Amino acid sequence: MASFRGFSFVITVIVMVVLGRCCGGGHGEVLGPPEELGICASAVTIHGYKCQEIQVTTKDGYILNVQRISEGRRESSGGIKKQPVIIQHGVLVDGETWLLNSPEQNLPMILADNGYDVWIANTRGTRFSRRHNSLNAADRAFWNWSWDELVVYDIPAVFDHVSQQTDQKIHYVGHSLGTLLVLASLSEGKLVNQLQSAAFLSPIAYLSHMTTIVGALAARSLLPEKVTALLGIAEFNLKRKEVETILKVLCTHPGVNCYDLLTAITGRNCCLNSSTIQLFLENEPQSTSTKNMVHLAQTVRTGVLAKYNYGRVDYNLMHYGDIHPPVYNLSNIPHNLPIFISYGGRDALSDVRDVERLLNHFKLHDVDKLAVQFVQKYAHADYIMGVDANSIVYNPLVAFFKKHGSA
Ligand SMILES: *[C@@H]1O[C@H](CO)[C@@H](O)[C@H](O)[C@H]1NC(C)=O
Ligand SMILES: *[C@@H]1O[C@H](CO)[C@@H](O)[C@H](O)[C@H]1NC(C)=O
Ligand SMILES: *[C@@H]1O[C@H](CO)[C@@H](O)[C@H](O)[C@H]1NC(C)=O
Repeated sequence: MASFRGFSFVITVIVMVVLGRCCGGGHGEVLGPPEELGICASAVTIHGYKCQEIQVTTKDGYILNVQRISEGRRESSGGIKKQPVIIQHGVLVDGETWLLNSPEQNLPMILADNGYDVWIANTRGTRFSRRHNSLNAADRAFWNWSWDELVVYDIPAVFDHVSQQTDQKIHYVGHSLGTLLVLASLSEGKLVNQLQSAAFLSPIAYLSHMTTIVGALAARSLLPEKVTALLGIAEFNLKRKEVETILKVLCTHPGVNCYDLLTAITGRNCCLNSSTIQLFLENEPQSTSTKNMVHLAQTVRTGVLAKYNYGRVDYNLMHYGDIHPPVYNLSNIPHNLPIFISYGGRDALSDVRDVERLLNHFKLHDVDKLAVQFVQKYAHADYIMGVDANSIVYNPLVAFFKKHGSA
């Protein structure tokens, strides 16, 4: 594996981007291929798959971009009704990250080749989901949300659209923040009627043991107060000047080695292809909102999975009717929902101890509806870009969907 050389390259580029030596750019400017070349054209149709760009509008007005791959490569569109799968990426990336390896290695195409109707979601604020009915991405109000709003608006918008279009129950695959969004929804009794099954890769819910150095430092010492003061309600873009400034400060902290930033953020990924990483860096990272990062930091600090804390009693009272933000109680997840969980032994974001705490909520889950996989050598990014994720994770996942499918 050319991973070591790959990493040096990656790290150099990330550090260049982070420290602002490359690219300059004003607020919200995004690198990478021209905006008009969508994900279908740049990453799917080139491999011989049909792909449709779809727009889905959330109840609060965000226009999300979704890619639909409804057929595998070797089939003509025929009578059988396929079951849909929604694939949801994590924070600071978008749906394109699923598609960077070869068709034999990436999850959406493997699912399409296995007869599934695949829908790739892109959350608000990422490159192709930066439009709104009335707001502009340059407005502060456009960035006034945390992952609570992704639970309330983005996830249901995509699920409702897919339900309407296919009239079928849906399989779900989430990675990282994409797992939290559906875990939180299920804890509130949402999506239950629409879901066939759910797969959670690198699940995050509790983040107390997150060993990612930068993340932990940011959450424990910097993010909530200072960052909010500095950035306010705004876009969180790793390429933005103010964010660069914060990262520069973090990088001077004793013990933080920014030369190794990718590893410091995601853990020691075992199995990334250096060509894939170059593609990754041409496309990512993507923006999110500062409020979302602050909310995640609150999860790290408090060890409780709760709604956004306004940090002021009067604001919490106004929004929640309580001085404390409501807790997402994961014990409410229905015990008969088929659930596949895979977690890695070297994942710095989704730490083994935190996943084990999450798994405690599944103690009473129906035994034949729960599959838990532990991959000792995997870190966070191996789950989306690992060269052997097809055989290690995706094939068992497809087998799980087939076992728990509607047909
Ligand atoms: C953000 O939304 C809250 C309501 O949830 C509102 O009170 C506040 O004024 C908004 N802030 C901005 C900058 O839009
Ligand atoms: C890495 O990516 C390159 C370019 O796509 C490809 O030719 C090569 O086979 C990949 N290596 C592995 C181990 O998948
Ligand atoms: C969570 O829900 C379970 C049962 O659904 C209940 O026994 C438990 O007390 C709840 N925990 C909290 C913190 O509300």
